[in-house]
Amino acid sequence: MKEKIEEVLKQAKQFKIASKEDVEQFRLKFLTRKSDINELFARLKEVPTEEKRNVGQLLNQLRSDLEKIFDDAKLKFDANEEDFNYDLSLPSFNFSTTGIHPLSVVKTELISIFLKMGFDVSEGPEIEDDWHNFSALNFPENHPARDMQDTFFIENEISLRTHTSSVQVRVMENKMPPIRTISPGRVYRNEAISSRSNCFFHQIEGLYIDEKVSFADLKQTLFLFVQEFFGEGTRVRFRPSYFPFTEPSAEMDIYLGTESDADKRLTKGTGWLEILGCGMVDTAVLKNCGIDSDKYSGFAFGMGVERIAMFKYGVKDLRTFFENDTRFLEQFYAV
Ligand code: DAH
Repeated sequence: MKEKIEEVLKQAKQFKIASKEDVEQFRLKFLTRKSDINELFARLKEVPTEEKRNVGQLLNQLRSDLEKIFDDAKLKFDANEEDFNYDLSLPSFNFSTTGIHPLSVVKTELISIFLKMGFDVSEGPEIEDDWHNFSALNFPENHPARDMQDTFFIENEISLRTHTSSVQVRVMENKMPPIRTISPGRVYRNEAISSRSNCFFHQIEGLYIDEKVSFADLKQTLFLFVQEFFGEGTRVRFRPSYFPFTEPSAEMDIYLGTESDADKRLTKGTGWLEILGCGMVDTAVLKNCGIDSDKYSGFAFGMGVERIAMFKYGVKDLRTFFENDTRFLEQFYAV
C-alpha cells in the first residue's frame, strides 16, 4: 500500500500541466471516482487493523496533496485565460468612439450664431394643446390654414406639435418684452415618408419682440445669420408668403447658383434655395399672448434643420438621418 501511495504521488508530481486541458486531464486521472486514490481507499479495509490508522493518514495526505496540485494548477490556468491569454503583439481593436449626429452638429452651429446675436434658447413640449399649436397662432378653428400642416392627433385638442412656433406662444405668455429667443426642437407631421419628408423632423424657431422692431430688423438679423452660416457674400432674397401668425409674411431663399449638378438639383434650376419662413408677428398673436400690440412689435422665423443639414453635407435622402446606420453616421465623426 505504502509503495502504491508513493507511486501515485510521484506520478502526480511528474504530470505535466501546461494548459487548461491538462488540468482537466489531471483531475480525470487522479481525482475522479475511478482514479487510483479511490481504489486505494477501497482497499483500506484489507489493511491489517494495526496499520489502518497509519495508512489511512497517508491516504488522506495523498488526497490533499493531489487536490492542492489540482487547485494550484486550476487557479493558474483559469487566471491565465482571463487575464493574459492574449497575443499582445496583435494590433488593438478599433474601438468606435462614436460622434455627434449631423443634425446635432448643425443645430448647435445654428444656435451658436443666434446666441452671439443676443438670443437665448427656450423649449416647449412636443405634446401640445390646440391653443399653443394653432389657436393662439391665429389659426381659426375650421380654418383651411390648419391643413397646411397634417397633424397627428392624440385626443381631442391634444396633438403632437406640428411646428416649434408653439414655443413662441409659451414664451410670450410667460415673459414680458424684450424677448429674443430661439427654440430648437422636434416636430411631427402626418405626411407620406419620402426622401424629402418624414413624419418627424427638427425646426428652429426664432422670436424677437421689443418696442419698434421692424421688418428691417428681421431682414438684417437673417442676413447676418446667413453670412455666418453659409459664408460671407451669400446672397439672400425675401419672397412674399402667407402664414397665419405673421403679417406680412415672407420666405427667405439663399443663392447657390446653378454651376454644379447638385446645386441645379437642389434649386430646381433656379439657383435659389428656400431655407426659412418668417414675418412680423401678427398683432392678433401678440394680443392672444397678453402682449400690448400698440407698444410692442416683433418678428419670427422658422427653419428646418434637416433641410439645412442636407444642403450642408450633400445628403440626398432625409430618411438617412433617422436610420442610425453606422455606415452613414461614421462619415460625420471627424466633423
Ligand atoms: N411654423 C412654420 C412652419 O412650420 C415656419 C415658420 C414660418 C415659423 C414663419 C415662423 C414664421 O416663426 O414667422 O412651416
